[in-house]
Amino acid sequence: MCGIIGFCGYLDAKEELVKGLAELEYRGYDSAGIACFTESGIEIVKSVGKVAELENKLPPRMESGCGIGHTRWATHGGVSEVNAHPHQCGNVTLIHNGIIENYHELAKALENTGRIPVSRTDTEIAAMLIDSLYNGDAMEALRRAVERLKGAYAFCIMFADQKDVIYCIRKGSPLVCCSSEEGSVVASDMVALLRYSKEYFVLPEYQVAKVTKNTITVMELDGTVVSPVMLSIHWDMSAAQKNGFKHYMLKEIHEQPEAIRRTLAPRLKKGKYLLPDFSEDGIQDELFQDTNRIMITACGTAMHAGMMGRILMERLLRIPVNVEVASEFRYADPILDEKSLVIVVSQSGETADTLAALRLARKRGAKTLAIVNVKGSSIARESDYVLYTHAGPEIAVASTKAYTAQLTAFYLLTFRFAYVAGKLSEGQVSDYMKGLNEVGELMERVLEQKDKMKELSKRLTPAQDLFFIGRSMDYALSCEGSIKLKEITYIHSEAYAAGELKHGTLSLITGGVPVIALATQEDVFAKMISNVKEVRARGAMVILITKEGNTTAIEKDICDEHLILPASDDLFAPFTAAIILQLLAYYTSSYRGLDVDQPRNLAKSVTVE
Ligand code: M6R
Repeated sequence: MCGIIGFCGYLDAKEELVKGLAELEYRGYDSAGIACFTESGIEIVKSVGKVAELENKLPPRMESGCGIGHTRWATHGGVSEVNAHPHQCGNVTLIHNGIIENYHELAKALENTGRIPVSRTDTEIAAMLIDSLYNGDAMEALRRAVERLKGAYAFCIMFADQKDVIYCIRKGSPLVCCSSEEGSVVASDMVALLRYSKEYFVLPEYQVAKVTKNTITVMELDGTVVSPVMLSIHWDMSAAQKNGFKHYMLKEIHEQPEAIRRTLAPRLKKGKYLLPDFSEDGIQDELFQDTNRIMITACGTAMHAGMMGRILMERLLRIPVNVEVASEFRYADPILDEKSLVIVVSQSGETADTLAALRLARKRGAKTLAIVNVKGSSIARESDYVLYTHAGPEIAVASTKAYTAQLTAFYLLTFRFAYVAGKLSEGQVSDYMKGLNEVGELMERVLEQKDKMKELSKRLTPAQDLFFIGRSMDYALSCEGSIKLKEITYIHSEAYAAGELKHGTLSLITGGVPVIALATQEDVFAKMISNVKEVRARGAMVILITKEGNTTAIEKDICDEHLILPASDDLFAPFTAAIILQLLAYYTSSYRGLDVDQPRNLAKSVTVE
């Protein structure tokens, strides 16, 4: 949440900052602002709304080679220009991503120094604190500030008397840095570094990056210079662009077959049998052999991938698997020991609650494995084991390709685990793996039918409420379909285990209410059809999703619309059905004239708790 960028180099800083902010805008888009060192001192420009609004406000003459920029997702203080970053107090101008939890106490203590905030933000208090501790020695001020600040932060700070220098420090919130011929850059996400370099480093917590146009010096708080661990980005600018698609979301929906292939490729061990292999990931079979219980924890869509993982694992491994939303896991006093494996799932690898859940799991002695998309992210670095999904950069706030890549990771893990535990033979695993290998092609076939979903979405566009129903895997997928729809269409929607409807929710099913019924699983197919009849009998407008090869015959007029997925083992139906749900959400949002990629009140990376 909140995108921050700092540039110091040989190009026009304001232009570079604006470009970077546009790339980071998915992290927050309530307001934006920049501050640059110019001939006349530090100049600040801020604006409510998106980066484009800020760009319109920039004075033509603001010559500078060094500055900082921020795009905000409001936490403390409403959406207003005065609350927009950068914030300034005395010598200090800064931008911040995170939350200062003890801001109130700090503000009280600072009152008698004559520093009175003008905004309602925690960030301004941090600027006031650092200013109060600054007497020309930035390292000393930062060292003392860190002792006092509680909460999460990534700061880029300019001191008025240190022209063309930016100091950065972080705790919790992300910050990555790179050097290039054009200059030095720091940002919340490597997406904003790509145009400069493919080599970057993650600033370790509590270390300071002193950024000048020729170098970035990383220091411990006591001033000791350290060498950062360099990482490489394996994709290029085009991966983070729309490439002819109207929205990132549509592009990312289309990228799913490829994302799955990329996630599978390094884990395919070809021989007589096709087995999953995690040698390159450093995950040994002992991990599975030493596990008698699995806990999965994550937030939002990543948690829905975990729900699918649970069904799959319990079915094939026959060991207890629980799924808990990370924000609850943290406070639920989980029962874990060294035989427990905690799987955390996160696209960004920075979600604050998921990170805290991971830390708790480690503290309780459990083994931890992260399914993460962003290389070098906090969750990836802090887990015992990492299984990277290779979905590439996901920019749209609504997660699509990350979700199906996370499913792929769960399938791979389950198949290997089942093989190691002797629950499946080599031949059985190999057959499943062949099925998984074909998923990309099946998804391409569904994508070819996107016009059908486009047409169908017209029927959903006026809806006020909408329900998704399903059983077992279809229920887990219903939860994902529902979050996708509500987050980008603003239609109230709920996902229900189909058998649960009669216990309350059926009272909401009245004439014309759309119900999307997923019936892809043979073992519960007949039961699902009964549930479809129940909602139809109450006047619901039913969109039924089944799969070619569902053997039970159904009456023609059982639903208003019928979508049929290509034939596959039931286990793989979630991949193809996910595309249908994503496309329905996408086109409905477009018909409603909404901002598909950046829905209101949301942000891509939730780095606050
Ligand atoms: O980066 P993460 O996977 O940890 O993010 C978790 C959720 O914030 C995220 O999946 C969110 O639910 C999506 N916007 C849903 O589309």
